[in-house]
This record gives sequence, C-alpha cells and structure tokens, in this order.
Amino acid sequence: GLRVLEALAASGLRSIRFAKEVPGLRLVVANDFSARAVDLIARNVAFNGVGALVAPRMADARMVMYQSKADREPFDVIDLDPYGSPAPFLDAAVQAVSEGGLLCVTCTDMGVMAGNSAETCYSKYGAVSLKGKFCHEMALRIILHSLDSRANCYQRFVVPLLSVSADFYVRVFVRVFTGQAKVKASASKQALVYHCVGCGTHHLQRLGKVTTLTPPALTPPLCPRPQLGGPVWAEPLHDPAFVGRVLAALEGSPGRFQTQERMRGVLSVVTEELGDVPLYYTLDGLSSTIHSNTPSLLQIRSALLHAGFRVSLSHACKNAVKTDAPPAVLWDIMRCW
Ligand SMILES: C[S@@+](CC[C@H](N)C(=O)[O-])C[C@H]1O[C@@H](n2cnc3c(N)ncnc32)[C@H](O)[C@@H]1O
Repeated sequence: GLRVLEALAASGLRSIRFAKEVPGLRLVVANDFSARAVDLIARNVAFNGVGALVAPRMADARMVMYQSKADREPFDVIDLDPYGSPAPFLDAAVQAVSEGGLLCVTCTDMGVMAGNSAETCYSKYGAVSLKGKFCHEMALRIILHSLDSRANCYQRFVVPLLSVSADFYVRVFVRVFTGQAKVKASASKQALVYHCVGCGTHHLQRLGKVTTLTPPALTPPLCPRPQLGGPVWAEPLHDPAFVGRVLAALEGSPGRFQTQERMRGVLSVVTEELGDVPLYYTLDGLSSTIHSNTPSLLQIRSALLHAGFRVSLSHACKNAVKTDAPPAVLWDIMRCW
C-alpha cells in the first residue's frame, strides 16, 4: 500500500477524502503545526471512521519530511497546499518522496508569480517572473523550474504529469526520480524568457548545452522594450498519456464528482495544448498592440493553419493562442487583419 503525507492538512478534509476515495493506501499522515488544526483533524477522522488509515500528526511539515528521509521511510505521495508559497517546503519534499513518487504542489501567491514582484519571485523560486499576458502558464513553469532545481541538488529530477492553472492558484503534479545522467540534462530543460513590454512578443532561450542559439527574435510593431525573465521550465507541462487516463477514469464514473464538467473541460483542453510550445499570445493582447478590433479565435487559427503552422488553445487563459509560428508571422497576420 502507498504512504501519503498531507503535510499542511488544516482540517484534514483532503486526507479523509484520500482515505475514502483512493484504493490501495496503507497510511495517510495528516500533519499540521497548529494544535487547533490537529484537534480538528482528529475529530474529523473519528467522525468519518477512517482512523485505521489516517494518522493525525502535529509537527513542522519540514521536520516530518526530513525525518522520513532520515528513517528511510519515504512517502509515495506528498501533498503541499500552503497559504501562499510552497517554497519553504520544496527542499524537504523533493528528498522525502519515494523513487518515482508523486508530489502535488499548490501555489496561491499568484501576484508574486505573475510579475507583480519579480524580485520576490526570484528569492522564493529562483526565477524572475514577468507581467506578460502569458503569466498564468509562466507561473506553472516557474514552480516546475524550482522543483526540478531543488531535486537536482540531490541527484533527482522531476517529470510533470499534469500542471493546472485555475482561478487564483496553480497546482502541479510531478513524479520525482533519481539519476545522475538525467540530472545533467536538467539545465537545458530550463529557459530564459525575453519579453517585449511594448508589444508582448516573447522568445525563449534554453540554458546549458545550446543546441539552437536563436537571437531574441523580438520584432515588435511598436517599441522594443525587452525584459528578461526566468529561468523557467521549457519542457512539456503535462504527460498526455497520464491526462488521457485521468479523462478516461472521469468518463468511466459519471456523476462521481460535482465538478465533473469543469474537470473534463480543463483536461480536454490540456490534452490538445501544443506541448512543445511554451507560453502563448492572447487575442486581446495582439489586437490592443496594433489598435485593431479583436479577431476571433477561429480567424487567427485558420490564418495560422493556412500558413502551415500548428496552433492550439491553452487551459490557462480562455483567449490564448499557442503556436509554433514565429512572432514575425503572427504580426504579419495581425497587420493583414
Ligand atoms: C491552506 S491550509 C491547508 C488546507 C488543506 N490542505 C485543505 O485542503 O483543507 C495551510 C495549513 O498549513 C499549516 N501550516 C503552515 N505552515 C506549516 C508548517 N511549517 N508545518 C505544518 N503546518 C503548517 C497551517 O496551520 C494551515 O492549516
């Protein structure tokens, strides 16, 4: 059976749901450092009759995780759902999770991650955030970068299964593996982001062993006011096979979740996102730059497809266009429009 740690459990609601809804668990540790919270967890566990599976615990989450490493009793799943930033817990979490185990991490400090406080973002996540239209996807790429670089310190690396931006938070699900050779590849999975504040054009430059050195192709129609952000995770955000299995499981049990339709909508867009095209443009961003009416998604999509490029939506923003077309092509299309 699997060992699960809900490191920041508050009422224990999530741990109780794990115990009741996920088959094959051996133990769920529901931890919080607040005595009131742990008292509540104990009452909720008893009330729901899951005392055989859920163990309430009162400790600093970091201590629980470092101790599990010292005792060689890693957790197969660690859930981090903090108020604000998970940054203080990442170092312990990447060490305390078992080989191939799952980390589920929420960030609610979206102001920091979306460019309102780029310096704070750097101090917490080791990446400079940018205030671009693509900021929600960039937030996902910042936390993935941070997780991978913490894991790298211990010869480990992350493999994202699913990365979701929703409402006021982002949440990522990554597996953690160990391997010296693979860790060496991590540098070139990260990229700096060039971004023109004037027109929103962006360009990613990967780090490490450079395979393609493309000069920042910022060819804006207005003023070139470049900003440099990152490094961010430049690899795919999701594992399409995994997301497909989650979707199939959802379809297989209709009515099981109240939010079924929303989950299906998000996951369907996720499966269609261009995995190898980081970030996106928004229709209103493109049109406001050139002071035109906003074209419809269908019109932009058709123009890009006709020009021979790929295009998709993004679950992170309803107005978004992801495309492998170079910025110059996108701006040509906008000029024609
Ligand atoms: C956002 S709440 C968790 C909500 C919960 N996961 C849920 O789904 O209902 C964050 C919790 O983390 C706890 N917390 C904050 N820092 C902690 C630490 N260093 N160690 C343990 N618990 C901590 C707080 O007491 C609070 O209850």
